[in-house]
Amino acid sequence: MSETTPLSPKILLIGSQGMLGSDLLTTLLNRGWNVTSPWREDLDITIPAHLEAIRRRDWSSPTHIINCAAYTAVDQAEQESMAAMRLNAVAPGTLAWVAREIGAQLLHISTDFVFDGFASTPYTESSPTNPLGTYGKSKLQGEQNVFKENDKSIIFRTSWLYGSNGKCFPRTMIEHYLKGTNLKVVNDQIGCPTSTIDLSQTIAQAIELNIAPGIYHATGPDSCTWYQFAELAIKTYREMHQLPYEINLAPCTTAEYPTPARRPAYSVLDNTKIQAAGVSAHRAFSESLLEFIAKTDF
Ligand SMILES: NC(=O)c1ccc[n+]([C@@H]2O[C@H](COP(=O)([O-])OP(=O)(O)OC[C@H]3O[C@@H](n4cnc5c(N)ncnc54)[C@H](OP(=O)(O)O)[C@@H]3O)[C@@H](O)[C@H]2O)c1
Repeated sequence: MSETTPLSPKILLIGSQGMLGSDLLTTLLNRGWNVTSPWREDLDITIPAHLEAIRRRDWSSPTHIINCAAYTAVDQAEQESMAAMRLNAVAPGTLAWVAREIGAQLLHISTDFVFDGFASTPYTESSPTNPLGTYGKSKLQGEQNVFKENDKSIIFRTSWLYGSNGKCFPRTMIEHYLKGTNLKVVNDQIGCPTSTIDLSQTIAQAIELNIAPGIYHATGPDSCTWYQFAELAIKTYREMHQLPYEINLAPCTTAEYPTPARRPAYSVLDNTKIQAAGVSAHRAFSESLLEFIAKTDF
């Protein structure tokens, strides 16, 4: 671990309207840091003139640029590979170059989808990548472009994000439960649900501790299947609101629920490296899920 950050950071946060970005904005502001968080209309990272404006320091002189913007429609990416590549692969590379030009550090977010999911033990940062679909390929290319342009960058690979300010899996499951829908959920894909609030703390701590550049896995500590995730989310909601009606939830296989994009069957990420750098582990899944349910309007 390197020395801690000496001065109060000045942050340019991109994608602050998104699920992760909105919780991250709150986290950074709560630390009393100077944060500029332009909307996409004013700073679209696929528009060269907008990137040029960062290089010209029109957005002041940030010490850190955090990129939470991405093309995140995993299935749609199979039909829109150019759009996914432009936003997830090309733009992060240019952003890394711009960061280098103005002496800022880039912190960027990547995904478990860079792996094929054929493993049976947690993936480390040096495990071989092999994305199965366009989204994963575009994110992997983004990682490579970032380091090609700027080796001082930090990339956090995360997975199965959920937060109160976006469309996410537990929200969808609870909304279906409230409508009384009969649900079938895949029970043969395993991953680590990750709270956007906890990941935001990770990112802020990484800045405070001035951790070494590189890739870091940063996910919740517990793994489960999508079916188990749905079951726990609905059960927690039901108990919190003392609802009498049962859950109409059944497990199914990936083969029974085909999607345009293939997903890794096993995408548990090993968080040893980031914790060795001094960053705290995320809270237990049950605890962060409880907070999510209490804070979210369904
Ligand atoms: N969600 C997950 O389960 C998951 C899992 C692993 C990794 N990740 C990664 O985590 C990061 C955050 O994901 P998220 O779920 O918070 O994403 P999100 O909710 O889809 O938010 C993406 C944000 O990017 C903005 N954006 C889109 N195109 C842009 C552009 N051209 N220029 C500037 N901003 C643009 C969006 O603006 P608008 O609001 O205007 O559309 C939105 O604010 C992404 O890198 C994603 O790949 C997500």
